[in-house]
Amino acid sequence: MTLQIFRTKPIQASDDAIDHGLKRCLSAWDLAFLGIGAIIGTGIFVLTGIAAATQAGPAVVLSFIIAGIACAFAALSYAELSAAIGGCGSAYGYSYAAFGELCAFIIGWDLLLEYGISVAAVANGWSGYFNNALTAIGMPLPDSLTKAPKLGGLINLPAAGIILLIMLLLIMGVKQSAKANNAMVFVKLITIVIFISVAMFNVHPEHWHPFMPFGWFQTLPDGKTTGVLAGASLVFFAYVGFDAVSTAAEEAKDPQRDLPFGIITSLLFCTVIYIIVAGLLTGVVNYKDLNVSSPVAHALTLIGFDWASALISTGVIAGLTTVMLVLYYGLTRIIFAMSRDGLLSAFFSEVNPVTQTPVRVIVVCGVLISLIAGFMPLGDLAELVNIGTLAAFVLVCFGAAVLRITKPDLPRPFRTPFSPLFPVLGMLSCGALMAFLPSLTWLRFVVWLVIGLIVYFSYSIHNSKLAK
Ligand code: ALA
Repeated sequence: MTLQIFRTKPIQASDDAIDHGLKRCLSAWDLAFLGIGAIIGTGIFVLTGIAAATQAGPAVVLSFIIAGIACAFAALSYAELSAAIGGCGSAYGYSYAAFGELCAFIIGWDLLLEYGISVAAVANGWSGYFNNALTAIGMPLPDSLTKAPKLGGLINLPAAGIILLIMLLLIMGVKQSAKANNAMVFVKLITIVIFISVAMFNVHPEHWHPFMPFGWFQTLPDGKTTGVLAGASLVFFAYVGFDAVSTAAEEAKDPQRDLPFGIITSLLFCTVIYIIVAGLLTGVVNYKDLNVSSPVAHALTLIGFDWASALISTGVIAGLTTVMLVLYYGLTRIIFAMSRDGLLSAFFSEVNPVTQTPVRVIVVCGVLISLIAGFMPLGDLAELVNIGTLAAFVLVCFGAAVLRITKPDLPRPFRTPFSPLFPVLGMLSCGALMAFLPSLTWLRFVVWLVIGLIVYFSYSIHNSKLAK
């Protein structure tokens, strides 16, 4: 048993992946759009305002730059590993090859938290915008149907419902989902173009003073944190999702070439967009006015552009849909990979012959996430996502550095520059962002990991295909 948990999986070139029944149909640009679909969402459309108003002021731009740099280091390691190591399951697959089964299981379990909870969190944000739109046409839903029990409602019905709709889309097939995704990413980009075009002619530079009203970092008497660095830990959520590109390895036409392209292109593109949008947002209105659930639309309303505000709200509804679509997709592919390796029940690894998608896993996840989204409030969900993601990034950077030493001759179609410096900087910067998160979040994270270890030692270790 001791040997088994440290045994690594043999590395195979990505394009030699076994016949897994999934269809190779995604091009390099499909992958980049998949990334952009996952990345731009609640982070920029909702959290920018909250971070500016409560943590960073106009210096929220710096928060985005800091979080973006940490992600860039992680993205380079992701790109190297995704091109070098076959199989799917994203960071789960890489750690299976680099560190062995137990570590792979832990990182896979961690990714389930990241992806599953982000989908539920984004569904909550989506529900808020959706209800705003209904209110605008005079048909608001009652609080009892838009709020979780903890917030005084019965169920967040739109949040639960959108998850079930996306579930149907994913069942229909990857190419169909990718097409729908590309269309909605386009709408999301148009939304951002509209905002930039209106905002750039309405900037009042005096709004950028004082630039850093909350300083770099401080802990408030109530235990909350503030400052540019705390803001970076919060807006990190805006970058969650670029790693989802690597979950599509088995459906990429040419994974060795296309995955690094998809990961790096989508991250670069989104970082530039975030800096521009955050700079303009804090330039058109005072940062103190941005602590609302739809800050981008709200800012345009405040400066008298109601038509642009309405268009933006509509675009955001489409935009958040793509985020959920891609993260949900990533979640199902990770469970699929873990199940195929015997670490989770084989029930999840069957591919439906008609749709060529893993229907069972899609349905089980859909029902569970829909319940979580319907009954748990956004705040509780969002906190957990960042810590899980950052932990995965730290491990991926570590994996990239370790594999350079343990498997120096492994063909690497993409190489992280300045290794091991960049992977080490990735570990340090992602680790630092974790340190700025509240202790309650840490506690929840540890509980999730303990449950994972129980699953591993009671089930996975006895059923692992590698051990057999
Ligand atoms: N990055 C994604 C978002 O901002 C999760 O919504």
